[in-house]
Amino acid sequence: MHLLSASCVCALLITALLRQVSGLDTVIGLYGETLEIPCNNGAMKAEDVLITKWKYDKGEGLPGDLLVKQKNQNVSISATLEYKGRVSMAANSSLLLSEAKLSDQRTFTCMVVAGADIEEYPVNVVIYKPPAGLEISDKASELEIGKLNKLGTCVAPDANPAANITWLKNNIPLVADGKGISIEASMLPDPVTGLSTTTSILKYSAKKEDTDAEFTCSTQHTVGSELVSSPVTFTITYTTENIVLQVITQDPLVEGDNVTLKCVADGNPAPTSFNFQLKEELVKVENTDTYIITNVSRDTTGEYKCSLVDDPTMEASKDITVNYLDINLSPSGNIVKSAGEALDLSFQIDASGDAKVSWTKDNVKLEKEPKFTKLTYADSGRYECEVTMGVLSRKAAFELAVEGVPVIKQLHKQRGKDGTHEVLICEAEGSPKPDVSWSINGTSPEESPFVNGMITHKITVMPTANLTVSCTVSNGFGADTKTINVSYINVEVKMDKQDQSDGSDQTKLVVGVVVGLLVATVVIALAYLVYMKKSKQGSWKTGEKEDGSSEEEKKLEEKVEENSQKAEV
Ligand SMILES: *[C@@H]1O[C@H](CO)[C@@H](O)[C@H](O)[C@H]1NC(C)=O
Ligand SMILES: *[C@@H]1O[C@H](CO)[C@@H](O)[C@H](O)[C@H]1NC(C)=O
Ligand SMILES: *[C@@H]1O[C@H](CO)[C@@H](O)[C@H](O)[C@H]1NC(C)=O
Ligand SMILES: *[C@@H]1O[C@H](CO)[C@@H](O)[C@H](O)[C@H]1NC(C)=O
Ligand SMILES: *[C@@H]1O[C@H](CO)[C@@H](O)[C@H](O)[C@H]1NC(C)=O
Repeated sequence: MHLLSASCVCALLITALLRQVSGLDTVIGLYGETLEIPCNNGAMKAEDVLITKWKYDKGEGLPGDLLVKQKNQNVSISATLEYKGRVSMAANSSLLLSEAKLSDQRTFTCMVVAGADIEEYPVNVVIYKPPAGLEISDKASELEIGKLNKLGTCVAPDANPAANITWLKNNIPLVADGKGISIEASMLPDPVTGLSTTTSILKYSAKKEDTDAEFTCSTQHTVGSELVSSPVTFTITYTTENIVLQVITQDPLVEGDNVTLKCVADGNPAPTSFNFQLKEELVKVENTDTYIITNVSRDTTGEYKCSLVDDPTMEASKDITVNYLDINLSPSGNIVKSAGEALDLSFQIDASGDAKVSWTKDNVKLEKEPKFTKLTYADSGRYECEVTMGVLSRKAAFELAVEGVPVIKQLHKQRGKDGTHEVLICEAEGSPKPDVSWSINGTSPEESPFVNGMITHKITVMPTANLTVSCTVSNGFGADTKTINVSYINVEVKMDKQDQSDGSDQTKLVVGVVVGLLVATVVIALAYLVYMKKSKQGSWKTGEKEDGSSEEEKKLEEKVEENSQKAEV
């Protein structure tokens, strides 16, 4: 009711005076309020008026008296029946009628006697009343998409004239279209007050986007401001239209990982239970849309499905591929083989896709998988293969040691640049690393690193006689010996040559050597007997000339060797 009184206050101010086509003045009053019915539009001059009288039309032409005012007298009220106690007159002759009712809609006449004139001013009264409120009732609990459902009933009670109800969605009027929108309005007058109650029923076929839409109804009455009901919103329900199976995994999926299957379906309310088809097995889940497969294996690979429990035709599927990469390399670890043997490698790859293989030997890339039909010492080393497939990779390795009796591959000599010495070079192959020994004591022994079963050993000699020198290589498996003939170097000749060609340092050296030789001749003569003894023990071979014709040369040889050592120091 507060709504009504609020609108009446403002409506009172705008009470309008209308001139009808009939020529009759019409005054509009608000139901329940005091109505002022002006006399001759208020164009009255009180001092000229002798008598003012208000009467009304009782119907059938019968007049009913209301009140009379004579000049300089008080108003005399003669109203009876329904007007008793409700009428009075304003100073400007207007009739004031309180608590206006619909039954007051009739003709009131003001009769004025001024001087000798008697004038009558009939006024037609109309009573309006805006609706007492506006409310949506019978609200649907939810709207199902695509079905014409009763959304609600809008009621505008107790109005005159009867209210026209407009339905709105998000403040936009809805118009009946015979399909998705249907509006049925009805009107019922109150038998006592005569006021009309308008009822409008909206039937509405919802769409998905009507979620959160605000529905209202409104009326714009002849008097008063627009009335708008409180908005109502609805849950829009619809059955599942789309279903998707999501597979949530690490990428790539490998054995031991977990896989989460998630069945995503629309619909409102959303479905809460699903069937997961896990290859052969059917699993029903409730109050969740996920299923977790733990510790997957290569057997997990396959097609997976999910569907709605209430509608198995709503189904989605997805393939799961579990990646795996197994390699098997045999032999492995440390392998010891004899040179010349064969080594059979067995190398297998079991993978879910194409794998790339690469081999290295001692961290150096190999062109292809190694094959050992006849092992050589050079085959010794650490072999590694790496197999990759995407981000998966596997490694395997073995360490091959080829062992065997050492063999001298080459024994040769190189004349030194200055021509005074020979460098003897013994190249051997074998594993484990062979020991190298010579039949004579050379100088500047030099041993190469032991690589691929190869070792090179060098010594420098300054032969004072034609010699046969042997190189012996040996390890736990055996030994090999080779000999080489080294010719006597006539030091003096070489020295002379050097004298001509070399610098002063070299000359000094040569002079020193020559002096040394002269001294040595004397010393050697004294040591002759001792020396002979030693040579007969055969601790080293004395050279090409075994005929003993040149004992002095032998002594000389030793001396030269000593001297060359001195020179080096
Ligand atoms: C007559 O007087 C009343 C106050 O007494 C006033 O409200 C009203 O507007 C007047 N009517 C006309 C037509 O002048
Ligand atoms: C995962 O499965 C494999 C066999 O597929 C099994 O050997 C392993 O123990 C399982 N691991 C766990 C953590 O269950
Ligand atoms: C060394 O051998 C060569 C031949 O190879 C020979 O001409 C020379 O006389 C020999 N020298 C000595 C000192 O025996
Ligand atoms: C080599 O020299 C060592 C001493 O350094 C000596 O004992 C050995 O007898 C020498 N061998 C030969 C063959 O001269
Ligand atoms: C070394 O000399 C001896 C004779 O002094 C000869 O029998 C042998 O064949 C020679 N060896 C080489 C490799 O020349």
